[in-house]
Amino acid sequence: MTGRNSGRDRRSPNSSNRLITNMGEKTFYVTTPIYYVNAKPHIGHAYPTIVADVLTRFHRQRGIDSYFLTGTDEHGINIERAAAARGVPVKQHVDEIVGEFKTAFAPLGIEYDQWIRTTDPIHEAAVQKLWQILDERGHIYKSRYEGWYCGNCNEFKDVDEKTTEPLCPIHERPLERLAEESYFFRLSAFQQPLLEYYEKHPEFVQPDVRRNEVISFVAGGLKDLSISRVSVKWGIPVPGDPSHTIYVWFDALSNYITALGWGSGEHEKLDRYWPALHLVGKDILRLHAVHWPAFLMSAGVELPRTVYAHGMLLRGGQKMGKTLGNAIDLGVLKRRFSADQIRYFLLRDVAFGQDGEVTYEGLIDRINSDLADGLGNLASRTLTMVRNYFEGYPPRPVRDQTDEAAVVQRRIDEAKGRFDEEFGALNFSRALEAAWSGIARIDKFITDNQPWKLAKDPAARAELEGVIATAYEGLRQIVLLVAPVMPTTSREIWNQMGLSGDPLRINPQEAGWGDPIDVSKIERVSPAFPKLDKEKIMIEIENDSATPVSQEAKQHDSTGQQASAGEKAASQAGMPALPGQIITIDDFAKIELRAATVLEAEKVPKADKLLRLVVDLGEAQPRQILAGIAQYYAPEDVVGRKIIVVANLAPRKLRGLESNGMLLAASVGEDGRPVLATFTEDVPNGARLK
Ligand code: MSP
Repeated sequence: MTGRNSGRDRRSPNSSNRLITNMGEKTFYVTTPIYYVNAKPHIGHAYPTIVADVLTRFHRQRGIDSYFLTGTDEHGINIERAAAARGVPVKQHVDEIVGEFKTAFAPLGIEYDQWIRTTDPIHEAAVQKLWQILDERGHIYKSRYEGWYCGNCNEFKDVDEKTTEPLCPIHERPLERLAEESYFFRLSAFQQPLLEYYEKHPEFVQPDVRRNEVISFVAGGLKDLSISRVSVKWGIPVPGDPSHTIYVWFDALSNYITALGWGSGEHEKLDRYWPALHLVGKDILRLHAVHWPAFLMSAGVELPRTVYAHGMLLRGGQKMGKTLGNAIDLGVLKRRFSADQIRYFLLRDVAFGQDGEVTYEGLIDRINSDLADGLGNLASRTLTMVRNYFEGYPPRPVRDQTDEAAVVQRRIDEAKGRFDEEFGALNFSRALEAAWSGIARIDKFITDNQPWKLAKDPAARAELEGVIATAYEGLRQIVLLVAPVMPTTSREIWNQMGLSGDPLRINPQEAGWGDPIDVSKIERVSPAFPKLDKEKIMIEIENDSATPVSQEAKQHDSTGQQASAGEKAASQAGMPALPGQIITIDDFAKIELRAATVLEAEKVPKADKLLRLVVDLGEAQPRQILAGIAQYYAPEDVVGRKIIVVANLAPRKLRGLESNGMLLAASVGEDGRPVLATFTEDVPNGARLK
């Protein structure tokens, strides 16, 4: 795998640089989608939540009263089924998964103001109230629905009626035929009002490319929307007709206002913060940009300020997620990387609004180039010089600074301006690029002026002071800029700089160049971002990745039932089995499993976990395979053993050695101890397992 970045060099999707954030206003309200609790949290969920956190910190730093809402979407057939598959009561299931979400988000530095759950009684009552208002206004009627439904999307699908067993185009799973009595919302009546609204408020759906999609969808005609189910029990009862439950999307979308007290009589927060900026994945844009505003129009509630659709995080070109089971594991991520490293990487590497390929290699490369060699190195070299040449007390820029220093000041001012402009348009990658251009400019200034030479010449003392003052001040300005993205490390560098206060409470745009500062002696300089050994970490990740799978099985089977029973039930329920996923026989046939004999084995120097094996696969030449089993098997234990090898795995390099295949082992016990798979009868090398 190589670190690819589909966003890096492209034009930003928000090319008009429309202001999305609430700069210049008094309040700011940002929301993430509320997450389904039928699967474990993964990086695709962390992504918009990190962005919301960064935006909240960014606004607060600029003195804007801000509110950040996230939470969980806990009703619906799929959640009912996920709980049934595990054999636990639905409430217990949802409580556990909510706990997992919160535990997964906290180490990423995510600090939300409110976590809404659609099972909160206040929310449930408010949703019923919204329903009643729509009903009173004549926008709800009862009829019958017949159509194809995807339980994973929680949506009816338009399919060719001639197809007898249609699949969901997104999940590629069979759709269910539903024919039942249902309440309908008169969505069709809102076609014109919506089109007029999009026209008048170009900032309502963003980026522009998504706005155009929404407009052409609505212009194509809107059908009334089925908004109740009789077959789903786990949901909010329809007022006055409890044999129906309210459609999960009606329930879920309402969270953005019920969380602030809409419908409860206590609407101080609603008055203060609404309308919101909704961050949503492009896959759920239509629900937010068509259905949601129509519900609000119907109820006479002000519409959200902006619905911003971001792209998908991809792995191997495909959306990461529970359906494909290909998501980067948050456990592995947080064991190897800090929150700030992950946050910076996601914002810098993926152009917000576009899809972006995410790999561990890409993450390590970014950390090493931008954080270790970039910001971290600037901080260490600058602070070390302050300590060595000025006894730890940073000199300050003087009024009549040199022309060269004035150029640095100008460049930093420009970078600050660009940073806020790009950030305001949610072009995070370009905003960070602007900050890093400032870092590069300071670095160049230091290198050009060679302070280490000036330090040897007592006559050059004033010049040396000017150089270090410029570098230190430039660093101070940059740290303020990046603080919302990397709160922990910014505070760490700030403290190392001897500065008082919290960088997250100082508006960078009000921090003037050379302003008086309250500073204490710089005592300790330690690298903020140590450089990472890519090969070593990749091996650790390889070894680590195997463990969570077994842990996952345990987590999802807290009842003590056999996981296989849960998986069977899940597959019968037509949903992805936990913890793995259901594959077809064709998927399995892609994997070439073959019998082999280990001819040679040795430990790989400086890699505790790795054995280098030479194996006979019945081919003309033996193959070299690297296996992460050295802590459990000595080389002499495996020589001569019959093993099973994935023979068609793409070759990859570990510790500079090529591995041409992978051996199979069971992962056993708490520590995931590998136990080699083998045969009890004699099998020739190269025999295929089917
Ligand atoms: N429960 C609904 C949202 C209701 S909001 C009123 C839902 N939940 S979800 O858990 O399936 O997805 C939540 C969000 O995560 C969506 O915006 C989706 O786009 C996002 N992501 C899930 N996988 C993702 C990636 N691989 N990449 C980026 N975002 C992804 O939909």
